[in-house]
Amino acid sequence: MVGTTSPVNILGIPGSLRQASYNKAALKAAQELLPEGATLEILGLDGVPPFNEDDERVLPPRVVELKARVREADAILFATPEYNYSVPGVLKNAIDWGSRPYGDNVWDGKPVALMGASPGPLGSARAQYHLRQSFVFLNMYPVNRPEVMITNAAQRFDAQGHLADEGSRTRIRQLLEALVAWTRRLK
Ligand SMILES: Cc1cc2nc3c(=O)[nH]c(=O)nc-3n(C[C@H](O)[C@H](O)[C@H](O)COP(=O)(O)O)c2cc1C
Repeated sequence: MVGTTSPVNILGIPGSLRQASYNKAALKAAQELLPEGATLEILGLDGVPPFNEDDERVLPPRVVELKARVREADAILFATPEYNYSVPGVLKNAIDWGSRPYGDNVWDGKPVALMGASPGPLGSARAQYHLRQSFVFLNMYPVNRPEVMITNAAQRFDAQGHLADEGSRTRIRQLLEALVAWTRRLK
């Protein structure tokens, strides 16, 4: 039987390459808010080439690494911005690589949680719902609640990129607790 504090290794994937990304900063905040027994490593998507179906039989090295890191993880935590009301290309691109070649979908059966930050008033909500739609075909097992939409991000992170807003920190803590409990239940 899986204990209430059995280890859960979460892989955090930001949907932004930007150095001062709010979404990367949200994942760093999550590292400070983990429940007992959980760890969170962050995997940036820098250097992942654009998806090309011609290359999916001999995967580029960065993609091999991405797939290995996802495979090793017990659970995934995406932190995504919203680009033009949807999922940023870099994140969708990485998800597409991970799902290929057909029959070797590395996301299959993974517990997953998502959150997002935006300087706007909806906190990446539209992108998050588009991402949830992809979870259906990927056969990922998402945590439904809480939804973590960090709105007006410029006011919630300080100049050093530290998430200073207590309400956002509480919701991230609750999301991590839900993801870890869900992962232990599914194990
Ligand atoms: C191409 C592009 C499209 C964007 N579209 C949206 C959008 O639809 N909704 C939104 O709230 N913010 C939008 N933004 C603003 C981003 O939320 C903002 O740049 C944010 O800081 C990006 O996340 P990051 O800080 O993690 O890099 C857009 C930014 C870019 C570059």
